[in-house]
This record gives sequence, C-alpha cells and structure tokens, in this order.
Amino acid sequence: MKGIILAGGAGTRLYPISKIYSKQLTLIYDKPLIYFPLSILMLGGIKEILIISNDETIPFYKKLFGDGSEIGLQINYAVQPAPNGIAESFIIGSGFVGKDSVTLILGDNIFYGKLDFMYNAIKNNTGATVFGYRVNDPERYGIVEFDENGKVLSIEEKPNEPKSNFAVPGLYVYNNDVVEISKNLKPSPRGELEITDVNIEYMKRGQLRVEKIGRGVAWLDTGTPESLLQASNFFGTIEDRQGLKVACIEEIAYYMDFINEKQFKDVIYKMPKCNYRAYLEQVLNNK
Ligand code: DAU
Repeated sequence: MKGIILAGGAGTRLYPISKIYSKQLTLIYDKPLIYFPLSILMLGGIKEILIISNDETIPFYKKLFGDGSEIGLQINYAVQPAPNGIAESFIIGSGFVGKDSVTLILGDNIFYGKLDFMYNAIKNNTGATVFGYRVNDPERYGIVEFDENGKVLSIEEKPNEPKSNFAVPGLYVYNNDVVEISKNLKPSPRGELEITDVNIEYMKRGQLRVEKIGRGVAWLDTGTPESLLQASNFFGTIEDRQGLKVACIEEIAYYMDFINEKQFKDVIYKMPKCNYRAYLEQVLNNK
C-alpha cells in the first residue's frame, strides 16, 4: 500500500499568510498541520509516501522531512502546477503508485481517536473504501446517502440540498484501478477532477464501500482561521492533560518499529534543545 498526501491548493481563506506559505505548514498547537495526516498514514503502516504540492512549497516539505529515511519512511515529492482537483493526485502520482493500491489523505484533514476504521479499510479493501462522518454543515462536503440497511444510494459533491448529514472525509483507500479511473475523468463544472466522481465510478462498478465513522473519532477540517484555532485548542488541551503528544512522527516511527533505538536516538540528538526534544527523550527513557 502506497500513501499520498495532497498538500497544495490556494489556501485563500487563510490570506494573508497564504501569500507566503501553504496552509499545511501552519502550526496546530505545537507542530505543522501536515504532521497530522502524515502520522495517520504511518499508523496505517504505510511507509512509501508521496507528498504533492505546488512548486513553491515543496522545498519547505523537503526541509521538514528530507527523504523520510530518518524516521524509516521513503518520502517522494511531486508538483501539482495548479489546484486542478483532488483526483489529479493519481495522475500526478501514477508512476509512484505503480501497480499498488493507494491511500490518499488530504493535507488539511485531521483524524483523532480510535483508528480501527482505517486499519480495517487498509487490510480489507478490494475496490474503494471511503468513510461517512456526521457533520452539521453537509453542504460543504462530499455527501453520502444511505438506505435503511446502510447501503449507499448516492454520493454528491457539495450539494445545495444534502440528502444526509454524512460527509466523506479526505481519507480514501483505493485499489490500483483508481489511476485509470482518474485518467478518464472529465473536469466538473468548477473545472476540477473531483474525488467524488472517482467514488461514483467505483459505485457504478459495484466496488465502493462506505464505512461510517462513529462519534468517538474526531475529524477536523482546517481550512479557516477559526478551525485552525479550534484544532490548536483541541490538541493543546489533550496534550497538556495527558502529557503525551499527538501526531509526533518520530515517536510514531519508533512505536511502529520503522526505526530502532539507535536511529531514534540519532533523530533526537540532531534536534535543538527544546520541549519537543525533551518529550522524545522521555519516550526513549520510558520504552
Ligand atoms: O475535507 C473533505 C472534503 O474534501 C470532501 O468531503 C470533498 O468531497 C472533497 O471535494 C474535498 O472538499 P474541499 O472543498 O474541502 O476541498 P478543497 O478544495 O478545500 O481541497 C482539500 C485540500 O486539498 C486542501 O488542503 C487543498 C488541497 N488541494 C485541493 C485541490 C482541489 C490540492 O492540493 N490540490 C487541488 O487540486
């Protein structure tokens, strides 16, 4: 299973900071936003990851992660020249995906809680597995409609009259057909290759599973100043209460055995003396 993080886009709702850098680099409490989707892929056991972004931002990601080997990953980078749609990920990433299946996560999507829904999808997916999460503002999302037996009836992108409150979060697990499906898509009226059209195609083929995610999981979308602040407060509260960090990629790499103790120490000792390093030293001493 390969992983793609789509982390480009215009980010205009965050203007003026979007003049100089991308949303996915903004700070959520104590770490850049992109650490959250990256940590989700890592927890799913995915080590080969492609980060797609615009060409101005890729150098910043390279500075953050390099080739990923320090934390046991293989991180590749690719440019999306313009935000032509989420499904373009699989066209840009077709060489990277090769003949594998692939999990795509949007660089501004945060998941927190019991991740069994994702572990099961990665383990059991045969066609496409996407998720349904109850939200208050369904017109902002891809929306899935179920019948009383939980069978999917429709999926629509940002409908004016949503048929349900179940949004499809930005985490998608696909078999290799997604590359061919994406290559054959036509741009939508808003000029984008829509991920919802990919899901509709899988539905037509009878290969789409939509798993509902329960309310015990937090799915946060972080496109606006308000939602960034909410996410920072949320994770600040949890980290302060537990004394444990969320989405600490070095800790996850160690915990997942992507790196051994020596490699973990190497990562830690390269860091400047700071709270983040002190936390990792604590993790090292407590294992
Ligand atoms: O967050 C989940 C929702 O994401 C889904 O429910 C929708 O079906 C899906 O279309 C998408 O809706 P958004 O309106 O949130 O998509 P947005 O255009 O904001 O893009 C999501 C992220 O992906 C954002 O961080 C920017 C990045 N992006 C987006 C596009 C269209 C790219 O890097 N390149 C792109 O071409």
